[in-house]
Amino acid sequence: MSIAQEIKSRLDIVDVISEYVDLKKSGRNYAGFCPFHANSRTPAFYVSPERQSWHCFGACAEGGDVFSFLMKKEGWDFREALEEMAQRTGVEIPAYKPKSAAQQSAENKLTVLMTAAADYYHKLFLTAPQASYARDYLERREVTAETITAFQLGYALNSWDACRNYFEEQGYTRDDLLAVGLLTFNEEKDSTYDRFRNRLMFPIRNIDRQIVGFGARTLEPDGVPKYLNSPQTALFDKSNILYGLDAAKRNIRDAGQAIIVEGYMDVIRAHQAGYQNVIAQMGTALTETQLNLLKRYTKRFVIALDADAAGVNATMRSLEVARETLDRDFEVRFDARGLVRNEGRLKADIRIATMPEGKDPDDIIRHDATQWPVLIGKAKPVVEYVIDVVTADVDRNDAKAKSDAAKRVIPLIKDIADAVERDHWLQRLAEALQVDVQALRTYAARGIGKRPPAPKRNRERPSSTLSRNVKAPLAVDKLEAHFLREVIAWPNMLAQVDSHLRHTRQPAVGRDDFTATEDQTLFRYLAHYANTVGDSAAMLTTLYAEMDDYLVGRVQGLLALPHTDDAQLEQLPQRLTTSVLSWRLDKIKRQLDEVKQMMGADHDPAHLETCQMLSMMVQSIHQAKHKLSVQGQRTT
Ligand code: UTP
Ligand code: MN
Repeated sequence: MSIAQEIKSRLDIVDVISEYVDLKKSGRNYAGFCPFHANSRTPAFYVSPERQSWHCFGACAEGGDVFSFLMKKEGWDFREALEEMAQRTGVEIPAYKPKSAAQQSAENKLTVLMTAAADYYHKLFLTAPQASYARDYLERREVTAETITAFQLGYALNSWDACRNYFEEQGYTRDDLLAVGLLTFNEEKDSTYDRFRNRLMFPIRNIDRQIVGFGARTLEPDGVPKYLNSPQTALFDKSNILYGLDAAKRNIRDAGQAIIVEGYMDVIRAHQAGYQNVIAQMGTALTETQLNLLKRYTKRFVIALDADAAGVNATMRSLEVARETLDRDFEVRFDARGLVRNEGRLKADIRIATMPEGKDPDDIIRHDATQWPVLIGKAKPVVEYVIDVVTADVDRNDAKAKSDAAKRVIPLIKDIADAVERDHWLQRLAEALQVDVQALRTYAARGIGKRPPAPKRNRERPSSTLSRNVKAPLAVDKLEAHFLREVIAWPNMLAQVDSHLRHTRQPAVGRDDFTATEDQTLFRYLAHYANTVGDSAAMLTTLYAEMDDYLVGRVQGLLALPHTDDAQLEQLPQRLTTSVLSWRLDKIKRQLDEVKQMMGADHDPAHLETCQMLSMMVQSIHQAKHKLSVQGQRTT
């Protein structure tokens, strides 16, 4: 089973769509108002639990599977939909392209190099005469010898080539050193030099304790940048690493809580003071990957932000800026909407603790360690925090200002997965603004912003989610799969099928002919390359090189199906054409059944039109099939 199939087998499309659409049982299916076009008179949208598909007869005249529904509704691409639903169903998305042995050993070499580099800087820190200032500096900052050892703090010499020379002597090449970011390449001068010079070095470890990067603090009073980090490398991606997690993970589990701070020194100070469930997000907003890493240890998070990172301006911005642009932006360290969405997705509890103006955790703990638990204890749920910040300066007599504040916060509240929680925060907001909560509810219902999937149905019908889907594939699905299989085997068949379809006045094969979103995507690739690749081998090579990873599993599944051999090739175009027409017919007949049923229920004349149109399509496909079979008799 491919990933998409695995996910679908664990979901019931009726449950998922019920979170967005009020569905009523109607015969074998469920019907409701289409969420994609404005309609309120008669339901023209139905969901088939049997086929695990949806369809709108109204203005959209579209349909698909659970993925295409979520993609349309949430604005996700297929990858996002897959990842989101993999999370919800507990399906692991494996790395499809396993690392080659060569790649693996190259990475090992780089890891060994990074370990050696941490040792090198650490040793310099402890013993080099040039490091005496660095040693004094840490002593002044009251960092103990044990802490220096535990975090393996280091020192980079004030030199353009000391590091390079040292490691080249050990047999490493310039390219190795560039690959891990120990050297910097200057294009203008066409030269390479040590990236870290006269800096205090903080080795960054991944969760397995391997060193993957460095943070490096300047030792000059106005040195810029204050912290220079390793660049993005094969080993290091700042957005999926948390500083200190290797040391903190056990304590996070024991404490049942992870505290996320902003900086290296904050982590080090907290650990030294005995608060060892503290980690740092290294200057970016907390990403989904980071939360995924953490959720293995706890689902209770407190984010300790300094006053400007979570101040009024930053909070306002985080409510407005599109989520996509936030994650990698150093300026935005607090992404309220991202947090609330993740909170729902992970069923986590995320709170915000703010530091007093001008102070960071390092300052606070150093000044009075007992204040730390007090501050953390005062952390507020993200939404409460945002409500407080946004409404703090609103004049309760200024109607316009109150409305503005409500408009700012409501999209965030709508992001909350749970209906009861949503209502709770609407009431809180109403109190804060001294308005009637009913007004806010109307506001929220009218639709500013979008709501993420809320797994509320699952709770009402716990068994249905997992039970129904272990079923034999339907005939139509089989036809679609075989079609794709044959096109992989015989890429030039596609043009011939299209030509047959044209002759019978039917539309060419398109992605919409396929029900599963992954098959639609795969078909796009196939159609794109069918004319250029000569044979199956070339098609597969091209697919594997070009295709998104997650489709590989589907292709492998298809390859397990039989395909036509050379001897019967002559009839293949016609057989495939007939097959396309058959499954189109099957789908349209089902739709026809459905509309007739709806018509019986609500007597809407609009349904009559749809009915007539579908009947005409059935006619025309019958004619096409007939024409095709007459043709077939002539050629054989
Ligand atoms: P801060 O500027 O608050 O530094 O940046 P700090 O941690 O308090 O450091 P000290 O106490 O002055 O030594 C917080 C974090 O943001 C990232 C680093 O991860 C830093 O620890 N940062 C900051 C950078 O990556 N680059 C910078 O230039 C500044
Ligand atoms: Mn600081």
